[in-house]
Amino acid sequence: MTSAASPSHSHAPTPHHHGPGHHHDHGSDHDHGHDHADTGQDDVLAEVLDLDAAVFAPYLTALTGRIAELAGDGVTQVVDLGAGTGAGTFALLERFPRARVTAVDSSPAMLARLVEAARAKGLGDRVDTLETDAGAGLAGLGDADLVWASASLHHVDDPAAALTGVRAALRPGGLLAVAELDGMPRFLPDDAVAGRPGLEARCREALEGLHAEQLPHLGADWGALLAAAGLTVEEERTERLELREPLPARVGQYAHIVLGRIHAALDGRADPADLAALSTLLDGGPADVRHRDDLVVRSTRQLWVARRPADPTA
Ligand SMILES: C[S@@+](CC[C@H](N)C(=O)[O-])C[C@H]1O[C@@H](n2cnc3c(N)ncnc32)[C@H](O)[C@@H]1O
Repeated sequence: MTSAASPSHSHAPTPHHHGPGHHHDHGSDHDHGHDHADTGQDDVLAEVLDLDAAVFAPYLTALTGRIAELAGDGVTQVVDLGAGTGAGTFALLERFPRARVTAVDSSPAMLARLVEAARAKGLGDRVDTLETDAGAGLAGLGDADLVWASASLHHVDDPAAALTGVRAALRPGGLLAVAELDGMPRFLPDDAVAGRPGLEARCREALEGLHAEQLPHLGADWGALLAAAGLTVEEERTERLELREPLPARVGQYAHIVLGRIHAALDGRADPADLAALSTLLDGGPADVRHRDDLVVRSTRQLWVARRPADPTA
């Protein structure tokens, strides 16, 4: 673990576990793993994460507010598990002004970005990093008041093992917050492309087949998994978010990236007429999602908050 203020980067206490079987298709999820050999894809994923954080900023603020109510005073040690570009890290640093955050991720590229962003925000001295596979345990981390895992646990090969590691990293009475989502947001009205009603719904259905193959833990019963790991679930909520005009800035750009990834992922898997229709939303022409005023952003997001029992022997 190393401070973001230091020039060097932390190194994994355990080897990477990203074998070939861990590679996910880049069109299938807002939030998946990455191919370290392909920095272009890393860049796209990072942009998606930053866009999501910007578009859903009020939601994230509400989540951290609820977590603060449950956590009470005295949160100083926080872990952001699968931190990505740091949306959660920065929201938690703001919410808990006395806290340090250890950002954990298996991607050195993500951690490097996060460190750079922390420095740019003047927060480098409150951020540490740990490069590791969350499924391999959180070596060296202990006594955390709060572990935050947003859109990351469903990437881990063995979530039960990861949760055992999280429990060990929490102090007795500490909290784990798991934020999950149903995949990338939806953006299109039903009649977005003339003659192809239901275009986005059909594309999403086809994507679900990919999710089942590549992200088998997306949509898992996290409440049951948390309980099985010896944590006490105190909060479970599902929110169906729907953003309409006036939309936050950059929604068009977010839609463009998401639909572009879907187009790439479904190449050869969807009706060619649907793929052609999708192209008209991406090609810079009059129907392009970056110029439309009829987008509606929809996303279903879930939160579980669970506590390690206060009895240190429990
Ligand atoms: C969508 S991102 C979520 C990022 C951030 N938590 C957020 O909500 O914006 C998933 C992150 O989990 C990381 N990740 C995937 N598998 C992992 C694993 N097995 N161990 C640690 N991190 C992992 C990815 O590198 C990526 O940064």
